[in-house]
Amino acid sequence: MKIAENGFEVIPIEFDDEIKKEKFYNILGKLNEEICLLSQNEIIQGVWGSSIGHINYHSLYLKEIFELVKNQHFFLHAKKIYSNRYGVEPHIGINVNVNIPGSKYQHIHRDFRATKDGLIINFGCQNISEKNGAINLLPTKRGFLYSTLFAFGFLRNQISLTQGNSLIRWGNLLHGGAPNRTDIRRPMIAIVLIRSDDNLIGFNWDPSLKAGPRSNFFNSSFRKRFTLFFASKTPFLFNQIYQVKRLISEFYLK
Ligand SMILES: [Fe+2]
Repeated sequence: MKIAENGFEVIPIEFDDEIKKEKFYNILGKLNEEICLLSQNEIIQGVWGSSIGHINYHSLYLKEIFELVKNQHFFLHAKKIYSNRYGVEPHIGINVNVNIPGSKYQHIHRDFRATKDGLIINFGCQNISEKNGAINLLPTKRGFLYSTLFAFGFLRNQISLTQGNSLIRWGNLLHGGAPNRTDIRRPMIAIVLIRSDDNLIGFNWDPSLKAGPRSNFFNSSFRKRFTLFFASKTPFLFNQIYQVKRLISEFYLK
């Protein structure tokens, strides 16, 4: 499997049924529209979050999207990769990452620790290219020098995703969001397969999402919000400081 060599792979989203396929693209379109129609005010619920330009949103459409993909090949493939590694079924969550016009490079980071990694399946509501913010992602086993250059922003590796393809990646890979240089918001779905602390398995849906889309920005700690604000104002300097801190800590070295 390609993921074994690189830690990520791009795989086509195929459906066993034409009706499901049609529904899927229909709902992606609706979700895209929902996000485009959010007022600037709604999008900047997390005003500091929006200044860095990478926001996590939730929407009721996500539940429908999951129902459609849960028995399709690309999803089952990802689930198998996860189960092969951990010997258990994953706990599954879903959200949508919105990259807003004018966003900046996000600091290079890992989503999970190597010892408790999670698998992430990403796909767009539209084509995702270097123009509207394709993820900047370092393949596994690239060595210390390459990793350091990447972490400090001297090397980049953006993964374009045309409509109909998904990106499967281990969250422990070094990565960061990239700028959206278009004037259209770019939603990207993220299905996350993880090990939960309380041994929950299967799909988890937060019923409070019935209230409609919302940013998770204000659920973040004050420290995180401050960090995001600082990072948005001084992206390059922030990344350098952040990476030095990471280099020193055991977390980075894993
Ligand atoms: Fe991330």
